[in-house]
Amino acid sequence: MHDAFATWDTGESLEAIEARIHDGVSNDKLRERGRGYVTHMFKLFPWVRPSADAAIVEVGPGVGYIMEALAKETGAVRITGLDVAPNMVARARERIKRDCLPEGRFEFALYDGVTLPWADGSVDFFYSVAAIQHIPKPHAYNLFLEMHRCLKPTGSSVVHLLSWDILPQMHLSFADEIRHQVTGTPTHWHHFYDRVELETVLGHGVKAADFQVVPDGGAIWCAWGKQRRR
Ligand SMILES: C[S@@+](CC[C@H](N)C(=O)[O-])C[C@H]1O[C@@H](n2cnc3c(N)ncnc32)[C@H](O)[C@@H]1O
Repeated sequence: MHDAFATWDTGESLEAIEARIHDGVSNDKLRERGRGYVTHMFKLFPWVRPSADAAIVEVGPGVGYIMEALAKETGAVRITGLDVAPNMVARARERIKRDCLPEGRFEFALYDGVTLPWADGSVDFFYSVAAIQHIPKPHAYNLFLEMHRCLKPTGSSVVHLLSWDILPQMHLSFADEIRHQVTGTPTHWHHFYDRVELETVLGHGVKAADFQVVPDGGAIWCAWGKQRRR
């Protein structure tokens, strides 16, 4: 497992994970947080909204609160959460059982962090929130390419990342951050993005037929599809 992924696979309990990975949001607000991301994503990119029977994947789902909100909002019959951390997948399944959600509707799968386990052109909708910002850029861009490979011709992807604009407001020493990354220290790594970089990657690198990049305070969102938007 890459050093950047190890911080997500610490053997913690479900309760410890719920308290740690949601930006300090309290447990009783995790559904509200999930709903907030889903509402915002469709407000920014109404053209990506999937149909109820779509093949939908969240990359880096944690314990599935955003999947739960997306299922409620779209009526999706099945969503797969794809993760690199075996303990996260185990705790996500535990959470679905604990909260009496239908297990067939919320599936979780493991992969190696490099190759998405889907055939070319087989997925309708990928999304990822607060996850890809923690992995090194070559891995992040590999995921963009992999999502694009797996998208159906009518499919689309949305990725939520950290913007460079947030760095001055974060209680984070840039020197420590870089030292963690250079020495391979397993902790939350942070990577920052801007519009020029993402537009260049999506247009020139991924060669998406259509894309949109939206700076959004401390965050930056991007969406793309294989066809031009109608
Ligand atoms: C901060 S949590 C976010 C969880 C969820 N998206 C949310 O916002 O509630 C980051 C998630 O990404 C997963 N993750 C980390 N690196 C990953 C990678 N390379 N591919 C897929 N998932 C990854 C972690 O295991 C964890 O589930």
